[in-house]
Amino acid sequence: MEPEPSMKSLRLNNNILSAGWMLAITALLGTALMVVVNWHSQPYIKVNERQVLLKTLNTLIPASMYDNDIVNDTVLLQDMDLLGSENDSLIYRARKNNNPVAAVMTIIAPDGYTGPIALLVGVNYAGTIQGVRVVKHRETPGLGDAIDIERGDWILSFNGKSLSNPQATGWKVKRDGGEFDQLTGATITPRAIVQSVHKALRFYRQHRSEIFYIEPTTTE
Ligand SMILES: Cc1cc2nc3c(=O)[nH]c(=O)nc-3n(C[C@H](O)[C@H](O)[C@H](O)COP(=O)(O)O)c2cc1C
Repeated sequence: MEPEPSMKSLRLNNNILSAGWMLAITALLGTALMVVVNWHSQPYIKVNERQVLLKTLNTLIPASMYDNDIVNDTVLLQDMDLLGSENDSLIYRARKNNNPVAAVMTIIAPDGYTGPIALLVGVNYAGTIQGVRVVKHRETPGLGDAIDIERGDWILSFNGKSLSNPQATGWKVKRDGGEFDQLTGATITPRAIVQSVHKALRFYRQHRSEIFYIEPTTTE
């Protein structure tokens, strides 16, 4: 015959059960709280991301140059060879009084020292560079990372350049006979960027009318 459970062991079982319930309820409430906080903060995160993006775009294309919603006036175009990605590349368009004034192309320099380097290339309507910025890279700190505006002003050497200034032979680092400085002890990184920016300018020349006149792509 089974022995009767003692009062002590019954109380222990009840305690374990209620502790289990408490744990489950706390976990459930915690998850619910996280979902609510996350849901409430989404719009603020979006606004914040938009402001950061706009600030970066405005370092390339000053706000005084355009009067459209540059963040949302975008188009997606694909060109593995000239834009460096097999995916669509996002292009921002700046207009004043509905006339195109500038574009910012998101491009990839695929052959950085440590992998692909993501760049923004801003050009005015005529195709002269307004500015270039590195947005993502994994180049070596103290060597290749001087391409970042926060680490050096090398990236500013593209300002005012175009397909005719310099001519194609000049679109190389000095080590290769071109016009652009390499970085001390680091030629591979700047070489990759110079080549890619040059290709972006060629893409712009070939596709300028598509860039400005096809319907905007909704990114929201
Ligand atoms: C650990 C390590 C990290 C390096 N990182 C970079 C880099 O981020 N970018 C770069 O161009 N070269 C980098 N280099 C140097 C290249 O190997 C290569 O020597 C250099 O780019 C050639 O430039 P130079 O002819 O001016 O020396 C690195 C070298 C070592 C050993």
